[in-house]
Amino acid sequence: MHHSRNSPTGPQPRYLSSTAVLLVEVIKLLASLVLATLDTCRSRPEAPTSTAMRYLYGSIFAPDSWKLIVPAALYTLQNSLVYAAISNLDAVTFQVTYQLKILTTVLFSILLLGRSISLRQWLSLILLTFGVALVQISGPLTSDDWRERLSSLIRSGTVPTSNAFKGLMAVVAASLTSGLTCVYFEKLVKDSMASVSLWTRNVQLSFFSLFPALFIGVIWQDGAAIVRYGFFVGYNPIVWVTISLQALGGLIVAVCIAYADNVAKNFAASLSIVVSYAATTVISRKPMTLHATAGATVVLLAIYLFNGRPAPRMVLLPVSQER
Ligand code: C5P
Repeated sequence: MHHSRNSPTGPQPRYLSSTAVLLVEVIKLLASLVLATLDTCRSRPEAPTSTAMRYLYGSIFAPDSWKLIVPAALYTLQNSLVYAAISNLDAVTFQVTYQLKILTTVLFSILLLGRSISLRQWLSLILLTFGVALVQISGPLTSDDWRERLSSLIRSGTVPTSNAFKGLMAVVAASLTSGLTCVYFEKLVKDSMASVSLWTRNVQLSFFSLFPALFIGVIWQDGAAIVRYGFFVGYNPIVWVTISLQALGGLIVAVCIAYADNVAKNFAASLSIVVSYAATTVISRKPMTLHATAGATVVLLAIYLFNGRPAPRMVLLPVSQER
């Protein structure tokens, strides 16, 4: 994502992030529609296709589908904030600060889902945030690498200027939105899992996301630029790869939230950072740094602490009952 936003574009402007956010939603809507149709056909094999399609239409526009308007608006906002953050921060700083969502997700799980977190799990969450930050800071591409890359890009083409404060504000807002929206979506999906499938919920979510993405992002925010330069200005294969990864990532997040939970999703994402770092060191044949090894160990320890069985409680018996 960072690369797609900061590559030199020659004389033409870089791509408009609002168009990317809209296209991601369109791809997710089409993919969810296919998956929801397959689900419906599988659960009612005896029904003719037209009946299955009617059933699907009815469930998408069910009376409670309006409940998806809130997460749709918030996710669209979050996706735009992520683009603003990654356009103004280097990739490492973005990844490290975005780990704040681990803590915001737990806070909203406690507030909205009534989940209780033990002291040991709090400790594990703080360790997780710290461990991922350690791995990221010593990642194969450090801030200095990015700075060096960017200065060479500036020499060779036009690179948009960045504003670190704006980037940090955007990442903090994105972390808060991520925690709130993911927990809201989890509650909604799990409360109605027996009657409405995950993919139907996702069709509803993407459908309602199209409106803010189109009217607020594309038309209101970037309308003038689109009229001047066109919808697909600055698009290249890297932009398309970024859009496809965003769409695929969103579908995977949906599965994680529905079949596990948000906290587990964030643990998986943190572990993936460690695994991809380890894989990069093997591929690039660079040894893992001390920082990264310590960070990876802390992440693994955090996962063990969070999921491990609580230590047996010590029960203090009154003196008379002691043998
Ligand atoms: O960073 P975080 O894990 O909060 O990102 C969630 C991402 O997953 C967002 O980009 C959101 O649009 C996407 N998502 C989705 N479908 C869902 C839930 C989340 O596409 N059902």
